[in-house]
Amino acid sequence: MLSNSEISEAIKSMAAGKNPCDSALAAIVSSSDYDGELASCADSVRRKVYSDEVYLRGLIEISSYCRNNCFYCGLRAGNAKALRYRLSKDEILTACKEGCELGFRTFVLQGGEDPYFSDSFICDVVSSIKRLYPDCAVTLSIGEREYSSYKALFDAGADRYLLRHETADDAHYRKLHPESMSLQNRKECLFALKEIGYQVGSGFMVGSPYQTVENIVSDIRFLQELSPDMIGIGPFIPHRNTPFGSFSCGSADLTIRLISILRLLFPYALIPATTSLATIAEENRKKALISGANVIMPNLTPLKVRKKYEIYNRKLSSSLESAQAVESIKAMLADIGYRAVSSRGDVKR
Ligand code: 5AD
Ligand code: SF4
Repeated sequence: MLSNSEISEAIKSMAAGKNPCDSALAAIVSSSDYDGELASCADSVRRKVYSDEVYLRGLIEISSYCRNNCFYCGLRAGNAKALRYRLSKDEILTACKEGCELGFRTFVLQGGEDPYFSDSFICDVVSSIKRLYPDCAVTLSIGEREYSSYKALFDAGADRYLLRHETADDAHYRKLHPESMSLQNRKECLFALKEIGYQVGSGFMVGSPYQTVENIVSDIRFLQELSPDMIGIGPFIPHRNTPFGSFSCGSADLTIRLISILRLLFPYALIPATTSLATIAEENRKKALISGANVIMPNLTPLKVRKKYEIYNRKLSSSLESAQAVESIKAMLADIGYRAVSSRGDVKR
């Protein structure tokens, strides 16, 4: 057990760029006593690297079909009640057009692992977006694929790839996923994406069932090994039609504390204030931004299908989570001392 003064010292040295030992990290993660101090250190680090800039990403949820069966997710193949859709190329391009007009310069194409999305389909979509909107970045978030597939998508023009590791502890990973999935494969995908040249994002759920403080320390250690450009974390929120439907939500306060810790350990990282945080309570979006987050990803999915992309129940997709609310988003950011910028918002490493 670390004393209060030892924890305080560990935070100061982390803010100065030192790597805390596992027991200090576990102590910082476990205590809410230093949240104010952590947030203000994190904000000063983020301002050194990114000034007052907040980057906007237009999120387009391209398919709610998924071949996987992650125990936590409402889109899992085994959820017969899930409402399924997939967007056509035209619908995706129309969403990009609208996004571009609203000022977005990054499009995140996210979806379940939908076998319908062949390499040639996604390559065609990506190269069309890059041809029509050459000053925009394209981020893909469509799960685990073959090396050759990742390479083809990169060669077609994709700039970035998001693939959360979910948990870096093998035993915990097996409690969250069926046997057909493995942490090793996920890690191999992440290192392949890096090798190919993508800006890579990873991350994990906070408060997922069976998660321990030691698991969170392992998550941070894995991120240090991977050294990703983007780090997305959000609280677990149950979905009633999944095996984890009766577990409780992860803690928003712990998620925000972890955002501050991640900012101190990864000063250059692009860290979003995620939808799941805002779903727990809308005020968490602002709290995350003043505690180290520097990205928001408003939803650009066509309104007629938007509610169908239900990873967890009550998922927020209106108000400030909606790309159409970009003017209110800018006002909210100005109100808390930041500036929404209309640029690709690449990582500053
Ligand atoms: N609660 C919170 N986040 C979830 N995700 C999936 N299911 C849930 C849930 N029930 C997250 C996973 C995944 C991302 C797309 O959404 O981390 O990588
Ligand atoms: Fe599919 Fe992703 Fe949901 Fe797992 S978390 S079931 S891979 S959409």
